Amino acid sequence: MARSGCPRYDAGMPLTNLPDRYGAVSKLLHWSVFVLFAYQFVGANIMTRLPRDARVFGMNGDFFYDWHKSIGLVLLGLAIARLIWRRTTPLPQWHPSLSEPERGIVHRLETWLYWLMFVMPVTGYLFVMAGGYGVKLFGITDLPNPIGKQPSWSGIV
Ligand code: HEM
Repeated sequence: MARSGCPRYDAGMPLTNLPDRYGAVSKLLHWSVFVLFAYQFVGANIMTRLPRDARVFGMNGDFFYDWHKSIGLVLLGLAIARLIWRRTTPLPQWHPSLSEPERGIVHRLETWLYWLMFVMPVTGYLFVMAGGYGVKLFGITDLPNPIGKQPSWSGIV
């Protein structure tokens, strides 16, 4: 295989982004968020439809609720990490085949997706805390409720 003469290219996948490709950290953040988001939608559909006392793959509704809330909070942490990484690491250059309007559309879509990465877990968290349902982190330990039960919020969250 041809060697570029640049040690960062030749050492395999770089950790940080290069002008022509994403590095390992960006890829890891991207794919972990993708996989966990996919889980959130599948898990949420199971938990909200599962009859009481029924099981899927041996797990009951409580299990799915605990894991949905916990993974949601992990996703919030990943969203923060992604934003910090995005703000502090240069991106690869745009592919030359993309026109200015196409770059604008991609940029706007990316901004929306970033907002969603925060809005989904934060509203979910506010919903369960204001409702007094709480979060049992991965079914192990109850998280404190910093806002307390908020009956007056019903209908908002
Ligand atoms: C990126 C993170 C999240 C995504 C993508 C997500 C997505 C979803 C989806 C698609 C539903 C099903 C809605 C329906 O069909 O009625 C749902 C329901 C739910 N989510 Fe999340 N969620 C996230 C984070 C959270 C967090 C952090 C919590 C709480 C700490 C949470 C708590 C809930 C609860 C309690 C429900 C059930 C609501 C009901 O029973 O009507 N979610 N979520």
